[in-house]
Amino acid sequence: PVLVVDFGAQYAQLIARRVREANIYSEVVPHTMAVDEMLAKEPAAIVLSGGPSSVYAEGAPSLDPAVLEAGVPVFGMCYGFQAMAQALGGTVAHTGLGEYGSTPASISDSVSTLFNGQPGDQSVWMSHGDSVTEAPSGMRVTASTAGAPVAAFEDDERHLYGVQWHPEVMHSTFGQRVLENFLYKGAGLSGDWTAANVVDELVGAIRDKVGDSRVLCALSGGVDSSVAAALVQKAVGDQLTCVFVDHGLLRSGEAEQVEKEFVAATGVDLVVVDARERFLSALAGVSDPEEKRKIIGREFIRVFEQAARDVVGSRGDSDHPVEFLVQGTLYPDVVESGGGTGAANIKSHHNVGGLPDDLQFKLVEPLRSLFKDEVRQVGLELGVPEAIVWRQPFPGPGLGIRIVGSVTAERLEILRAADKIAREELTAAGLDRDIWQCPVVLLADVRSVGVQGDGRTYGHPVVLRPVSSEDAMTADWTRVPYDVLAKISTRITNEVREVNRVVLDVTSKPPGTIEWE
Ligand code: XMP
Repeated sequence: PVLVVDFGAQYAQLIARRVREANIYSEVVPHTMAVDEMLAKEPAAIVLSGGPSSVYAEGAPSLDPAVLEAGVPVFGMCYGFQAMAQALGGTVAHTGLGEYGSTPASISDSVSTLFNGQPGDQSVWMSHGDSVTEAPSGMRVTASTAGAPVAAFEDDERHLYGVQWHPEVMHSTFGQRVLENFLYKGAGLSGDWTAANVVDELVGAIRDKVGDSRVLCALSGGVDSSVAAALVQKAVGDQLTCVFVDHGLLRSGEAEQVEKEFVAATGVDLVVVDARERFLSALAGVSDPEEKRKIIGREFIRVFEQAARDVVGSRGDSDHPVEFLVQGTLYPDVVESGGGTGAANIKSHHNVGGLPDDLQFKLVEPLRSLFKDEVRQVGLELGVPEAIVWRQPFPGPGLGIRIVGSVTAERLEILRAADKIAREELTAAGLDRDIWQCPVVLLADVRSVGVQGDGRTYGHPVVLRPVSSEDAMTADWTRVPYDVLAKISTRITNEVREVNRVVLDVTSKPPGTIEWE
């Protein structure tokens, strides 16, 4: 792998993604990892990420010079660049000329390894207080900016490279080219980490892990569980059983997508548990959001647990017990929970958490090394239906937390109809990839007066909540074009009898959350 050494800013994961965009596998490791341990991973190259603004900042992490002496190509970025300069005997000084944001850089050597074929003036994204004022000996200075006399250096002999800026962010115009030049030319790597190869590799790993035991998977209809299931199916097809709990809180067409399209595309052995009545009666009369969430979570576990027991009994035998449970854990969860290896304290556990002691499964987590966009590429490679691969986030408790008020079958029907129209029109307008998700919320206990076809109506409002986001931690309301909103509004009020008003939520997160409950 290419190791991205994380010096503590949020940039390391982004760098790892950029390396992978160059079709080279990369992993993030903490800067506290011993050099021996890094080298044991046989890195093809090492990238030192950004971090604090200065190597002199309080508590600034240090760089063990052994990293630079191991014969592995190294690329330092921002803080990593300064740490490298310092470790190699250059000078890093407080010049009072910090640079933050878009900054013009002049490339003094456009035939160099990093800048080959690029213009002499480029815009780069800076974030530094101190600057390298003197390059280490043996390093060729290849770029400068107003605040950084030494803004880039290279040594082809030792395969050491660095830039003061952040090539991984989009504001650095030639950032990806610079990174690729390091990887392909500086480190001599070739980009053969493609979706097809990834599938082959993961399939092999699943077979090794699972042997001839049987495997259980909880399918939710979301991207992660679907792609994870499709991978395991490809690896050990006739040993896998998927359980889909239909809690009746999915949107229009989603249960069918799982039960028909997904099964047709992958051939999985699917057990569908129709628990719609059970969830409706458990939710009857409950309008408190937290209460609803608790009930849905609790019922889900009970139903899944029973289904798991049935599968263990019906599909497994003493020679081939149902021993493994598939989890759709992704790489960001692995990095954030601090673990390269082992430890399964992963947040996606809440989906199937709390299984009783006699149902302890070992975990198969085929997506542990992948970012979300890579999961999608793998899904496409495996033939998972596009509607599933590109599905926007949808909460586990489903429409249950999009009805403000208590949940009834009739209210679910109303919301499903309105939501279907909103989704159809947003898709038709080509907005699916711009919008992170667009909850449609039914204000079931609110009524307002309207007029339709000469008659007075007394119906419910629905709220459109289109949001743009990177990771759902923060979000902004999406400026959906008025004509698209108009069309959604007209169709919903015409086609869904009980709804006589459509309103738009124009609150960012914070202070609002994305969901209403
Ligand atoms: P909020 O409403 O907290 O939502 O801004 C952030 C993101 O999480 C989704 N969400 C959930 N996902 N189980 C889930 O799997 C849940 O209980 C849940 N609640 C909210 C929400 O759709 C948004 O993408």
